[in-house]
Amino acid sequence: MEIQINNLRIFFLDEGSGEKTARVPLLFVHGFPLNHEIWSSQIQTLSATHRVIAPDLRGHGKSDAPPGPYKIEQMADDLKALIDARRCGPVMMIGHSMGGYITFAFLRRYPKLIAGLGLVCTRPGADAPEGKTNRENLAQRVEKDGSIAVVDAMFPKMLAPTTYAEQLDASESIRRMMLATPVAGIAGASRGMALRSDSSDLLPTIKVPTLIITGAKDQLIPPKESENIANQIPNSTLHVISGAGHLPSVEKAGEVNRILMEFVTKNFT
Ligand code: MLT
Repeated sequence: MEIQINNLRIFFLDEGSGEKTARVPLLFVHGFPLNHEIWSSQIQTLSATHRVIAPDLRGHGKSDAPPGPYKIEQMADDLKALIDARRCGPVMMIGHSMGGYITFAFLRRYPKLIAGLGLVCTRPGADAPEGKTNRENLAQRVEKDGSIAVVDAMFPKMLAPTTYAEQLDASESIRRMMLATPVAGIAGASRGMALRSDSSDLLPTIKVPTLIITGAKDQLIPPKESENIANQIPNSTLHVISGAGHLPSVEKAGEVNRILMEFVTKNFT
């Protein structure tokens, strides 16, 4: 489905109806430079019992890709407009990596719309100066050479070594998602992430049930970031998925589905 919000065409899935709408809806927020398809298995499984909303963020997937930078707060505002338009809040918001940065920004701006949190392979901190420079360099390389530049830079670190070796279809689907992300989207999000502020102060204030998931072999955001988040959020549960890299929702989809189902059943039924 598509919706016009904040002068953009945003693509999203909204699955699950009837009785399921009485439960807390689950809103899945993908990371960079990917799209809602990283959640395909979760959408299929969880929509059997819950309403599930999964957008393509601005600049990604089938959504419009205006010129950036895309500030993280602006992407949080896109989600607020989507939630308002679909009348689905409060939600459990589940953010992967950059989607986690957006989830933190959303929580700061619209806490009443958050009933629960899922933080997958993400971190609360802002970029160090060197990281900001790398973001700008990546944006410029992509503008010069196309989306292949982000594939060259990031794809070799996205997955666990065993995933590349044993899950060829899954690896290829991630590579294709990255390659299909528009140049303006990659550059806009990269520059937007460099501008983001530190969300660490939020952690001890979080009261809603929080599920934290990380891949034991994540090379992009080390598992210790998730341990740090778990230590600071009082009502939180941490799962470290062995054999998964930066994309447990794809690499270990069945295990992530079980963990999510158990969490939402315990907290939201
Ligand atoms: C992501 O997966 O969203 C990125 O790795 C986040 C980042 O580059 O900081």
